[in-house]
Amino acid sequence: MKSIVVYYSWSGNTEIAAKTIAAATRSRILELREKAARKLPWVYVVGGFQAILGIRSRLAKETFDLKGADTVILCSPIWASSPVPAVNTFLAKADLKGRKVAVFFTLGDDKPPLKAFKKAAALIAAKGGKFGGSGHFQVPLKGKAAPGMMKTAVKAFIKKIRK
Ligand SMILES: Cc1cc2nc3c(=O)[nH]c(=O)nc-3n(C[C@H](O)[C@H](O)[C@H](O)COP(=O)(O)O)c2cc1C
Repeated sequence: MKSIVVYYSWSGNTEIAAKTIAAATRSRILELREKAARKLPWVYVVGGFQAILGIRSRLAKETFDLKGADTVILCSPIWASSPVPAVNTFLAKADLKGRKVAVFFTLGDDKPPLKAFKKAAALIAAKGGKFGGSGHFQVPLKGKAAPGMMKTAVKAFIKKIRK
């Protein structure tokens, strides 16, 4: 598996997940940065609304170098039970044809984000990619994960996507 980890993170949890996964799979890592910074409290209202509707956001860079990678490991927070706008942009614009795309979410809920997996899988299929597996991590109540916390979830995820 030659993989690249692609992630968006607003408050840092998904960045920890992405870096843990990249280290464990020896992957290149690519951060999706939005052109306009999101601030409190608007991120909840505007961001949540955009996520529900599947809206894309403007990214600082909208060309993605996936060269050499047969697998994309896409890491996203859950917003309003959905993938985030930056990830929608990536899924719409990246060259996913023939590539496996595995998806890892961080979220606050204690249930697997099934709705979001379904949404991501549909977007991946629409671009000719193959859904390559799923994983998730529930962040602690105060909303901040610490490095090391995600090791078990990440290990299980990597085992699943390598099959
Ligand atoms: C705008 C917004 C909406 C959110 N909606 C949900 C949700 O519907 N379900 C959930 O479990 N967590 C939700 N969360 C919590 C995040 O998914 C969680 O804190 C995640 O780890 C944040 O990742 P980040 O630190 O990489 O930005 C929401 C957070 C934000 C900011």
